[in-house]
Amino acid sequence: MREFEVPMDKRLVLAPIDEAHIDQLHACGGNARCTTCRVEFLAGEPDQMTGAEKAVLAARGLTGVRLS
Ligand code: FES
Repeated sequence: MREFEVPMDKRLVLAPIDEAHIDQLHACGGNARCTTCRVEFLAGEPDQMTGAEKAVLAARGLTGVRLS
């Protein structure tokens, strides 16, 4: 992996695709419905989580991952 810059207003699910040209599954288009964009942060996990992300992760019993 490598570092790449992401514009402030870029939805994170699109950052690997648009900015680093890395394929990232995102079946629902980043709308917190499918969880195919789930990622594990090794460092620097954001403190904030949207209500939609929190709800879908809880509904699926997912821990230790975030939705990109
Ligand atoms: S793309 Fe569906 S939850 Fe992220």
